[in-house]
Amino acid sequence: MSRKTETVDSMGTDRPEIEIRGLHKSFGDNKVLRGIDLDIARGEVVCVIGPSGSGKSTLLRCVNLLEEPTSGQVFVGGTEVTDLDVDIDAVRRRIGMVFQQFNLFPHLNVTENLTLPQRRVLRRSKARAAAVARENLLRVGLADKADAYPAQLSGGQQQRVAIARALVMGPEVMLFDEPTSALDPELVGEVLSVMRLLAAEGMTMMVVTHEMSFAREVADRVVFMDGGVIVEHGPAAQVVGDPQHERTRNFLMRILDPAATEAPVEDAGVDVRKPVDGSSEG
Ligand SMILES: Nc1ncnc2c1ncn2[C@@H]1O[C@H](COP(=O)(O)OP(=O)(O)O)[C@@H](O)[C@H]1O
Ligand SMILES: [Mg+2]
Repeated sequence: MSRKTETVDSMGTDRPEIEIRGLHKSFGDNKVLRGIDLDIARGEVVCVIGPSGSGKSTLLRCVNLLEEPTSGQVFVGGTEVTDLDVDIDAVRRRIGMVFQQFNLFPHLNVTENLTLPQRRVLRRSKARAAAVARENLLRVGLADKADAYPAQLSGGQQQRVAIARALVMGPEVMLFDEPTSALDPELVGEVLSVMRLLAAEGMTMMVVTHEMSFAREVADRVVFMDGGVIVEHGPAAQVVGDPQHERTRNFLMRILDPAATEAPVEDAGVDVRKPVDGSSEG
């Protein structure tokens, strides 16, 4: 699939939507990212795959500054987000993030979950926020759940609400960190369908996932990470279908045929870190 439309940004220069330059991140002595360079064009969908602990989540979190890189630069839409003087809140408004956990407010209904961040962060009027919420519920196919509470929804529906919650902010870029990993298998499809739709609309997306069929069908490019570096990247058909590196081959073998090995591939732990997308603030 090719939607790579190199548009001209407001500065009048051709630039990728996301540029990652020499990115390093350490936690104490643990060097988690060891020099990541990656460009993502506007409208491009890039899937990031790799074993647990390889630094995939940390990479996404460095893009929207949930983690502060140790060194290197990240640009989003031509703005250096790693610039110490940058307005972090303004940057985060441009970047939507969806996590494995949905992190909806249980005491608020769906509409309230979607209007709260708009009211607090974007200072939208109640009527405007409600209208944008309706539009985006329609987009994720949940217009009929506007008044439901999260506990009344399936995991797949909750994750679609979480996607809508990111979309109401009008992001230029969407980051997904294993959005279907916490779901029962029969609920994965509906979430991937919504993501397919966003991709078709031209959203720039960076998706950490183990859903290889999604990567093959939807991703323009697949990036394989291991040990904090990008081992290989390229068109999905190439990286998934004809990997050049032994490490990629081993990983894919485990993903596609888990019975072939005893080594666990799925992230076992539950990510308890909070989202910082506006909805949890204030
Ligand atoms: N906030 C943190 N503090 C300390 N270590 C962390 C933190 N976040 C991630 N790590 C470590 O970074 C490494 C990579 O983690 P992560 O980026 O979550 O990998 P992946 O998403 O590929 O499973 C792991 O060793 C993990 O323990
Ligand atoms: Mg992770």
